[in-house]
Amino acid sequence: MEHALNFPRDMAQSTLEKNAVILVTGATGMVGGSLVRALRDHGFSRIVSPPRAELNLCETSSVETYFQRHRPEYVFLLAAKVGGIAANIADPVGFLADNLQMTVNGLAACQRFGVKKTLLLGSSCIYPCACPQPMREEYLLTGPPEPTNEGYALAKIAALKLAAYYHRQYGMQIVCPMPCNIYGTGDHFDLQRSHVLSSLVRRFCDACANGLDAVTLWGTGTARREFMHVDDVVAGMLFLMDRKNAPDIVNLGTGVDVSIRQLAEKISQASGFQGIINWDATKPDGMARKCLDCSQLTTLGFTAQVNLDLGIERTIVEYKYLKDRGKIAA
Ligand SMILES: NC(=O)c1ccc[n+]([C@@H]2O[C@H](COP(=O)([O-])OP(=O)(O)OC[C@H]3O[C@@H](n4cnc5c(N)ncnc54)[C@H](OP(=O)(O)O)[C@@H]3O)[C@@H](O)[C@H]2O)c1
Repeated sequence: MEHALNFPRDMAQSTLEKNAVILVTGATGMVGGSLVRALRDHGFSRIVSPPRAELNLCETSSVETYFQRHRPEYVFLLAAKVGGIAANIADPVGFLADNLQMTVNGLAACQRFGVKKTLLLGSSCIYPCACPQPMREEYLLTGPPEPTNEGYALAKIAALKLAAYYHRQYGMQIVCPMPCNIYGTGDHFDLQRSHVLSSLVRRFCDACANGLDAVTLWGTGTARREFMHVDDVVAGMLFLMDRKNAPDIVNLGTGVDVSIRQLAEKISQASGFQGIINWDATKPDGMARKCLDCSQLTTLGFTAQVNLDLGIERTIVEYKYLKDRGKIAA
């Protein structure tokens, strides 16, 4: 299904040369896939976006061989093992070890093969569990991360530190945006590993289709989260790629949060669900509030364009489109 990507920004002035070799890792995923489409739409013609079978970032030899062969000039390190609370609790080893390995291999190759500029995507999970809200960039490492996704958070924090060391020791140009929760085109709607917004879209759309009169959701619904549409995340990454050279982190979000209860009600209404919502308070809520302070980003001149209501409507349309074509796994 095609959607016009949200790109009001003028890419004609981009510092990325149109004929440069640009490597996007994680391109089978939501963010990487959207970035590749955006780059193509803007006339970048030499994009390499290998699937994991061709470039497995956990394997040093695979990364070495790939960089040797393709010699990328700009690299977007987006690949990661990503998942919701349940997936993080079930596989903390994988979330820490795989994510660490991918960054260690990816950054080492960027340095060794003289990549001009690298973007390393972080996450708002890097901030401490008891972080003052909204979360400012300088709150990094002022306390321990949220226990339910500690492995993922530690891997992202180590990645940022490694990027900073590469910048200091080798002069590498690295950009490190810290996005909030991302949703939208290309999300996978897999109930075991999906994120909150896409899993709620699936739950409510399926409840409607199956005539259910109640949906039970994890937690109390009081936790507050910030959501950014993937088109805005991609636009923000390209914006920062043009303006930053050093790995001092920049929050990438809308600066607006909602409670999970409010989010569920919005999605319930937009999907046409008429039943009731039950909350299973025996399940964890995760951090009480996660909202980014985006003043650095807005001062640089970037603001998000897709508001949450519109983004939810688009995601519901996309989910139904994929489901009707048998492209949603059971
Ligand atoms: N989604 C969010 O809410 C969110 C929020 C903050 C930050 N982020 C960050 O944004 C980035 C992209 O996330 P996403 O939501 O697009 O995730 P996603 O849809 O799960 O995509 C992850 C991508 O990483 C690839 N990958 C995983 N392990 C790999 C490996 N060993 N070698 C090569 N590729 C591998 C996956 O390939 P396969 O198809 O083979 O699995 C997939 O293409 C990640 O760095 C994530 O930490 C995401």
